[in-house]
Amino acid sequence: MKNKLWQGRFDTPLSADADAFNQSLTFDRKLFDVDLDASVAHATMLGACGILTKEESERICEGLNEIRADVAAGMPITGAEDIHSFVEGELVDRIGDVGKKLHTARSRNDQVATDMRLYVRKSTTAAINALKELVEVLLLRAKDGVRYLMPGFTHLRKAQPINCAQYFNAYSEMFLRDIDRFAACKEHLNVMPLGSAALAGTSYPINREMTRELLGFDAVSENALDAVSDRDFVAEYLFCASLTMAHLSRLCEDTILYTSEEFGYWNIPDEYSTGSSIMPQKKNPDLPELVRGKTGRVYGALMSILTVIKGLPLAYNKDLQEDKEVFFDTETTLLSSIGIYTALMRKITLNVNAMYDAACEGFSTATDVADYLAKHGVPFRDAHAVTGKLVRYCISAGRKLTDLTLEEFRAASPVFEANILDAVKVRVSVESRGSVGGSSEEAVCKGIASIKRRLIRK
Ligand code: ARG
Repeated sequence: MKNKLWQGRFDTPLSADADAFNQSLTFDRKLFDVDLDASVAHATMLGACGILTKEESERICEGLNEIRADVAAGMPITGAEDIHSFVEGELVDRIGDVGKKLHTARSRNDQVATDMRLYVRKSTTAAINALKELVEVLLLRAKDGVRYLMPGFTHLRKAQPINCAQYFNAYSEMFLRDIDRFAACKEHLNVMPLGSAALAGTSYPINREMTRELLGFDAVSENALDAVSDRDFVAEYLFCASLTMAHLSRLCEDTILYTSEEFGYWNIPDEYSTGSSIMPQKKNPDLPELVRGKTGRVYGALMSILTVIKGLPLAYNKDLQEDKEVFFDTETTLLSSIGIYTALMRKITLNVNAMYDAACEGFSTATDVADYLAKHGVPFRDAHAVTGKLVRYCISAGRKLTDLTLEEFRAASPVFEANILDAVKVRVSVESRGSVGGSSEEAVCKGIASIKRRLIRK
């Protein structure tokens, strides 16, 4: 075990159980690379400002790079309180007393706040890239869905027929918004706390602009008290992740329904399906169910960080160490969920006939009948009532709107002409919805083109 960075003030070492409870190395080792990046930048700046000599600064940077190489080659990260103590302890073991100068003009408080920002920054990029890939697959699905129809639902009851592409485009819209949210989160977090020291700034003549530049931050933080205790960016990332999971979870629910025997709209291939240990006939949608279930875990992480932040007195408090496990767990959960769904959406097959037949059921063109009357001068509310009666007539006679004769339509209202027989067909209904964002082939093709355009710009 490496010495504690703070042992000097204490008579006896920390007891083993307290040490185990207090430590964060078992999880903050994930910050290893960014911690080194920040330390190299800090040491470089100390050298450039004359706070350390050029030689000292160079020796420290060399030592840090050696540690990086050794860990990359398999050296374990163990035996210290946290990743910062690990790196500093290793450095001193390797280069001796000069290593002890690395922590000049800095504190673990600004160090960990900087590390987390660097790490979350990378993670937002990973989320954005994963979401882009998912939208690309949804675009493929939409492209081959353009020729097909399916029922559109409200209240999970058949509402109006829609073009399949419109369905997939709807999810692309959600994920494009998620991409924008992660991009905004990345922009908000790109402010550097390093140089805040423990809480009050530092008396050394440091150059924060230089470290900012070296670490690729857009700005330096403007209040040290705030900077060391701010984890808003973690909460923001967890919110972005929560909303993405909410969208995925809606897609999961659709997948589970649409692949059921009762719906039969989609098939999940065997390599992405699971079976039952007792019921030999079962083909289960475990993957969408798991993603749906993991959504709760990500929401839990968001609640956790909000609660950690709540009521914290200024400035740093050890509570903030609790930002890490929930963040790392969410990162893994989010990326694996997007990843598995991207694979799944690539693999599902559409039962286009079943979807078409279902779209023809349930009087799904009743709105078109009401619209027909309204377009011929009947006030919409009256048109709605006449159509409602026609639907009732169909239900009692066991007929569909598409089976009715012109005479039957005219018995309901003399306004109907022969072209009503065409207007109730699902294809005609869908094609008539040419408003921007609508379900006609032209509208969904424009939707696809627009999604592609926006995706390229992200
Ligand atoms: N492991 C700590 C954390 O994650 C590092 C900062 C420790 N700072 C302190 N004042 N004890 O927050």
